[in-house]
Amino acid sequence: MPREHFGSDHEFLPKHMIISYEEIIVVVKSMLPLGLKKVRITGGEPLMRKDISKLISMIRKLDSDLDIAMTTNGVLLRRHITSLKEAGLNRVTVSLDSIDEQSFKEITDSENDVSQVIDGINSVIELGMEVKVNTVIKRGVNENQIIPLVNTFLKLNVPIRFIEFMDVGSTNSWNLDSVVTGKEIREIIGRNFNPLIKKKSNYFGEVAKLWTMDGDYDIGFIESISSPFCGSCTRARISSKGNLYTCLFSEQGYDLLSIIRMNAEVADVTKIISSIWNKRDDKYSEYRSENNSNRKPVEMSYIGG
Ligand SMILES: C[S@@+](CC[C@H](N)C(=O)[O-])C[C@H]1O[C@@H](n2cnc3c(N)ncnc32)[C@H](O)[C@@H]1O
Repeated sequence: MPREHFGSDHEFLPKHMIISYEEIIVVVKSMLPLGLKKVRITGGEPLMRKDISKLISMIRKLDSDLDIAMTTNGVLLRRHITSLKEAGLNRVTVSLDSIDEQSFKEITDSENDVSQVIDGINSVIELGMEVKVNTVIKRGVNENQIIPLVNTFLKLNVPIRFIEFMDVGSTNSWNLDSVVTGKEIREIIGRNFNPLIKKKSNYFGEVAKLWTMDGDYDIGFIESISSPFCGSCTRARISSKGNLYTCLFSEQGYDLLSIIRMNAEVADVTKIISSIWNKRDDKYSEYRSENNSNRKPVEMSYIGG
């Protein structure tokens, strides 16, 4: 939760307004016949939710082949990783924008230490699970972290993915000048290591473009600003209030929770989701440059990255 949302007068959602694990299961079940292949648990901070492993095991019981991933700040990973693995989690993405303690504390606005996050990453490696790192570089904030981050994760053989700083929500004081593009980051890496070589995508809808360093270490770039990929986006998002969002930059979601609470059959929820999905025409990243000053997109802390 960003600090500006936090304070003595901040109202937390009453529990009954939050989608329950059983209700999340209805959503997942209803999406399986539509070709759902991957579920990512994000947030907010997913490891703050009570009994998160229980949700993972409930999802796993629905389909043994489903790819279940989690995006986390990594601080509580070591404490939870064994039960997450036992519950059926396949892989973890850890967000880390700086390896320098001081700038990490400033960026995360917290008293956590980088060492806790690295320890969390190591705990995933120790269990033989796949782990990746997500990094957002902002101009004037952490460009000097590009090389130290690559050095650290090259040594650990953990793939790093650079996400271009996006104008999600309206509280992150985004402007185009603050975006360090994938191309710029590749140039910086190329000056310090051998130049990166582009790889082919692994599957339709893969958001990260992969580049390889000497053939055995890959670095991903998610270039939503400089190279939008709305046309191949296959992601739907569910908020903690049970709203379905068809775009990361949506202003409004569809209230699935009320439908589920009217005791709708799973097959009916499938039909509703299918009709919302087939009608979607949001492609915000492709018309970002047009005048969008009146837009009020949903906050990233609300629907996750
Ligand atoms: C919103 S976080 C939520 C999950 C979890 N708390 C975490 O820290 O990973 C999910 C991902 O979105 C990324 N992210 C947040 N704000 C962003 C922005 N404005 N542009 C691009 N990525 C962003 C974060 O770096 C993180 O990898």
